[in-house]
Amino acid sequence: MRILLIGSGAREHALALGLHHDPAVKALHAAPGNPGIAKIATCHPEATQVDDAQVMLELAKQVEADLVVIGPEVPLVSGVADVLREAGFLVFGPSKAAAQIEGSKAFAKDVMAAAGVRTARAESIQPDQNQAAVDAALDRFGPHYVVKDDGLAGGKGVVVTDDREVARDHARSVLDAGNPVLLESFLDGPEVSLFCLVDGETVVPLLPAQDHKRAYENDEGPNTGGMGAYAPLPWLPEDATQRIVDEICVPVAKEMVKRGTPYSGLLYAGLAWGADGPAVVEFNCRFGDPETQAVLALLKTPLGGVLRAVAEGRLDELPPLEWSEGYALTVVLAAEGYPQDPVTGAEIYGADCEGVLHAGTSVRDGQLLSAGGRVLNVIGVGESLADARARAYEIMHTISLVGSFYRSDIAAKAEQGEISISGK
Ligand code: GLY
Repeated sequence: MRILLIGSGAREHALALGLHHDPAVKALHAAPGNPGIAKIATCHPEATQVDDAQVMLELAKQVEADLVVIGPEVPLVSGVADVLREAGFLVFGPSKAAAQIEGSKAFAKDVMAAAGVRTARAESIQPDQNQAAVDAALDRFGPHYVVKDDGLAGGKGVVVTDDREVARDHARSVLDAGNPVLLESFLDGPEVSLFCLVDGETVVPLLPAQDHKRAYENDEGPNTGGMGAYAPLPWLPEDATQRIVDEICVPVAKEMVKRGTPYSGLLYAGLAWGADGPAVVEFNCRFGDPETQAVLALLKTPLGGVLRAVAEGRLDELPPLEWSEGYALTVVLAAEGYPQDPVTGAEIYGADCEGVLHAGTSVRDGQLLSAGGRVLNVIGVGESLADARARAYEIMHTISLVGSFYRSDIAAKAEQGEISISGK
């Protein structure tokens, strides 16, 4: 099988590793890829316009792809999968219409309402509404404010705050940029990311994971794209994954079929488990980053065959997924200044070892340099969460990048038994 993988982050590096280890994958190409992916795939660094369907189509033809795997949300929401499918390619990733589940938070709310899925109360504010309308809407929420950019923000456009002025300022800046704002009631309880393979009404869950979205230790500081994650979740009851599938993912998949826009690809359910059980914080139309890096580290079933089964519409024929025992942890190394103003172009040393994934890097004259806010991910796998944590931080300590930082408390609360779910 010849595969074209679209994307360039650590999530794509994790996908590339999984595909590289699948004996059925004979050729792996990445558009544009990154210096880490380049060690195991043929990268096409000139193909940076991943949301330009014609560019991706030409490349898929050139490399004679049997399957195109689309990693990021931007090409999915802009309809790259549709153009490739129309040209006869097998594609892992939802259509433009189905990707609206991430592209428009208001669309996602509508689907959830129709499917009877528990989620936060929400109100949408349009860019042409005046400040008085914004203030009146804010009055209907609080004391915890959840203010979302209803455009594509890669998980970074959300501000959760108890400070009304901060909420107001974020809403204003999103509206001034021309995007709608979604105000939501705050959902309490530990967060769960559940990724499901979805093919029409067939839903197959991967292992549940938990992200750490705040920049600094103890969940302080600004929201980021994610600073670390672990899987599975030792504090989640055994039947919890099936419950999320039955109460949330299957009803949504059925609703998408009913609307004539069946989902095919990876549906990411971002949830909070409160007193009433799991409720949806957001859906994404792609694998999550950095949770994917931990989840795929435990997947034993060859990845290419799994993604192909979804793309061919025969997920229902796939044997049960096989997983390694134990835990996996990923920790993000971020550049100085991340997330507000990351410093790039700094030299990286000690990253050339197993368990290191590239997120934002480049190479100049043979020297690895930082090229983004999230620079590298390290992966630790172990029999216990403590072992996985120890391994990940052991690898992290070998890496040097001036001014960089990482959170040393990824999965610490879970390891210490400090997370529990209450209620139903
Ligand atoms: N884990 C956050 C995201 O992928 O959006």
